Amino acid sequence: MQNDIIFQPLEFRHLTIKNRIFRSNISGRFDNYDGSGNQARINWEEKFARGGVGAIVSSFVPVTIKGRIVPNYATIHCDDRISFWHQVGEKVHEYGCKFIMQLSHSGRQQDIQGIENDYIRQSSTSHTESFHGLECRAMSKDEIWQVVQAFGKGAKRAQEAGLDGVELHGANGYLITQFLSSGINDRTDEFGGSLRNRARFLLEIIEAVRQEVGDKFHFQVKISAEDFNNAVIPWEKPGNKLEETVQICQWLEEAGVDAIHVSVGSLFPHPLNPPGTFPLGGKYATDKASNSYDTMLSSGNLTFRNYLLFRYPVLHKIFEWLWYRIPRKVYRREGNLIQGAPVKAAELCPDFSRFVSLEKVQQLLETYQGRNLGYARSIKKNVKIPVICTGGFQQASYIRKAISEEFCDAVSIARPLVANNDLVQKFAQGKDISDRPCTYCNKCLLNTLKNPLGCYEIARYGDDYNEMIREIMTVFT
Ligand SMILES: Cc1cc2nc3c(=O)[nH]c(=O)nc-3n(C[C@H](O)[C@H](O)[C@H](O)COP(=O)(O)O)c2cc1C
Ligand code: SF4
Repeated sequence: MQNDIIFQPLEFRHLTIKNRIFRSNISGRFDNYDGSGNQARINWEEKFARGGVGAIVSSFVPVTIKGRIVPNYATIHCDDRISFWHQVGEKVHEYGCKFIMQLSHSGRQQDIQGIENDYIRQSSTSHTESFHGLECRAMSKDEIWQVVQAFGKGAKRAQEAGLDGVELHGANGYLITQFLSSGINDRTDEFGGSLRNRARFLLEIIEAVRQEVGDKFHFQVKISAEDFNNAVIPWEKPGNKLEETVQICQWLEEAGVDAIHVSVGSLFPHPLNPPGTFPLGGKYATDKASNSYDTMLSSGNLTFRNYLLFRYPVLHKIFEWLWYRIPRKVYRREGNLIQGAPVKAAELCPDFSRFVSLEKVQQLLETYQGRNLGYARSIKKNVKIPVICTGGFQQASYIRKAISEEFCDAVSIARPLVANNDLVQKFAQGKDISDRPCTYCNKCLLNTLKNPLGCYEIARYGDDYNEMIREIMTVFT
C-alpha cells in the first residue's frame, strides 16, 4: 500500500486528500421536503467516509429553491442550512475524509418542480428541453445576476459550515451547461453566441465565489468534456466539443479554480453518463424505469410518450435504438484506452456468479470502466491544476494505470461505491475488485426518482429481494 499510487495523497493548492479516490456526487431524495437535512443524509455520507474514500463530493446542493431538481434534496439557499452541513462535515471528518459541497442549479432540467416552484423553469433559453419536454424561459439579466450571487453566498455558507471546499456543477445539462452549450444556449446578448460569451455566466460565478470565500478555499468545477446534445434526439444541435471544453478549462484555471472534475453529456441521465444500461424490464418493479418515471408524468410535454416507451416491452426496441445509438458508435470507435487485470473466478462471490458470469463481468469492465479517460487526459495536458475523472471505475489495477499513465490525478466513483461502500478498504487489503461488483445496470439511478437511493441490482444479493431491501434501508438506521 505504501508505494501504491492509489494511496498517495493528492495535493491541491489549499487542500490535501489522503488518497486518490473521491466519492462522486450521488443525489438521493432522503432529506426533508423543505430542503433541510436529517440523520439519513448524515448516515449516507458516513458510509463512504468509513469505507475509506479520501474525499466526498456531495450530491447536487441547490443554491436557490428554484434551482432544485426534485424536492427532498438538502439545500444551501439560506443561512439556516449551515448548521446541518456542519454536522455532515464533522461526521465525515471523524474518518479523515474531506467533504466538498457541490453547488448547483437545475435550470430547465427540473424533474419534479415541487410546490414552491409553480412557475416556468429558468434557463439560458426558452427552447423546450427535447427529451422530457420540460418547458422553460430564458432568464433576464437581473435573474442571471441573482443566481450568480446565490452561488457566491452558497459557497460562503459551505465555508462557514467548516467544509473543505466547493464544486460547481457545470456538467450534465444543469443550468451552467445550459449556458455553456452551443446546442442549448441560443441567446443573442453577452451571455450567448461565442464561446467566451457562453462561458461568461460560469466565469462570473467563479468571481462571485472567490469574492465570498477568498483565494485559499478549495474550489473545483465539474464539467462535461463533450455535450453529445443530439445523443437521444438526433436532430438536436450536437453542442460543445472537447476542444471548446479544453479552452473553457484554461479560462477556469486562470480565474482561480483549483481542479477540474471531468464528466460528459448535456442531459442527465445521458446515454454516455452514467455509462451502462437503461433498465427497462425484469422480475421486480424496482427493475423497471416505468415504475419510477411515473413520478415525472406531469413534468414535461413528452413524459407520457417516454412512459409508454418504458412501460410496454413491444416499444422497448425503439427506445433502445435511440438510447444506445451514440454509445455504440463511440465505444466501438474508441475501445478502452487501458486494461485492468483479468478478473479471476475466485475473486467473485459464488452467489453473484450464478447470475452474472465471469465473462460478463469482464465484458462490462471492458465496455464501461474509465469511459471519460480520453477527455481527462486531453484536459490534463492543457492545464496545470489536478484533474479528477468520473465514469465506471471499480478495479484497483485499472485505476492505478489511469493515474500512473497520467490520464488523470484522481478518480471519482459513484455507483461502484453505492454497491460496495467499503471498496477503498478492499483495495487497501490488496483486492483488485469487489466480489460483488457493480453491473452498471443503472437501477439505482432510475429508482432514486421515487425510492430511497441504494443498489437495486438483485443479482448482487443472490436474487434475495428481502436482503436487497434490508441493505437499502440501512441508511435510515
Ligand atoms: C443515483 C445517481 C445520482 C447522481 N447524482 C449526481 C449529482 O447530484 N451530481 C453530479 O454531478 N453527478 C451525479 N451523478 C453522477 C455521478 O456523480 C458520476 O459522475 C457518474 O455516475 C459516473 O460515475 P460512476 O460510473 O462511478 O457511477 C449521479 C449518479 C447516480 C448514479
Ligand atoms: S443498481 Fe447497483 S449494480 Fe446497478 S448500477 Fe447501481 S450500484 Fe451498480
